[in-house]
Amino acid sequence: MRHFLNINSLSNSDVIRLVEHSIKLKQKNSNEKSDKTVVNLFFENSTRTYSSFQMAENKLGFQQIIIDPQHSSMSKGESLSDTLKTLKAIGIDVAIVRHTTNSWYENIISESDPEKIPQLVNAGDGSGQHPSQSLLDLVTIYEEFSHFDGLKVRIIGDLSHSRVARSNAEILNKLGVEVSFSGPENWQPKDFKQFGQFVDIDYELDKQDVVMFLRVQHERITQTEHQYFSSRQYHGKYGLTLSRYKKLKDNAIVMHPAPVNRDVEIANELVESSKSRIFEQMRNGVFARMAILKFVLEE
Ligand code: CP
Repeated sequence: MRHFLNINSLSNSDVIRLVEHSIKLKQKNSNEKSDKTVVNLFFENSTRTYSSFQMAENKLGFQQIIIDPQHSSMSKGESLSDTLKTLKAIGIDVAIVRHTTNSWYENIISESDPEKIPQLVNAGDGSGQHPSQSLLDLVTIYEEFSHFDGLKVRIIGDLSHSRVARSNAEILNKLGVEVSFSGPENWQPKDFKQFGQFVDIDYELDKQDVVMFLRVQHERITQTEHQYFSSRQYHGKYGLTLSRYKKLKDNAIVMHPAPVNRDVEIANELVESSKSRIFEQMRNGVFARMAILKFVLEE
């Protein structure tokens, strides 16, 4: 048994195994029985990750214990570590946690007896990693192209606040994808250079296999950035406009982790266009998360 915290700490063969397992689970689309118990602890808002983990748990036949962190003893000062140990003591096998703090799990794991905490799944940590989103993104790309090596993927937008960008840039690079980035200069993390080049959005747009847009994370940007932000300007400079869409290759796909700010990252009319895989990504999230839950409980 293991935790699932950062997709980039897995070997490429484990990642491909998870991708292929997710696709098999999607093709089978059946419900299973299980005696496992799970808790979903979300300290940040979520629609997709929360509901698709719940759907994955239901399809696997897991028993769910519902705890709202705001109404738990954490509001009285109990630490996340003690909460997780408590949940293990009462019989929880897996805890799915989304937290505002980057790498929230590191101290918990280094300081705890592994037998005394549940298997942990990272459902997004601050601006750190979003490994289950990365897996569903990989599933979506693999379903389309049946390989990763040599593909060209452009990641566009609010790179510095996005855990999806960080998770995906690294894993795609590891899998042999030619990654490039576009977006506002002040949102270009320097360390991303190890994963790919920063280029103008229109540079070789017609050669990309995947264009992946990122949400402008208004909740994480500074007040000054917010003050000077114009949706119309952003859309023209960094968004998927109709003229950019028309330049894409015939078999290129458009991705976005969602929620989408329509007419900001992507023109409203293109969110559900024929090249868009945005809602397919959400559907794939259920099967990717089923594969993750099986992976962490694998003996
Ligand atoms: N993509 C994503 O993580 O969406 P939610 O915040 O709605 O879970």
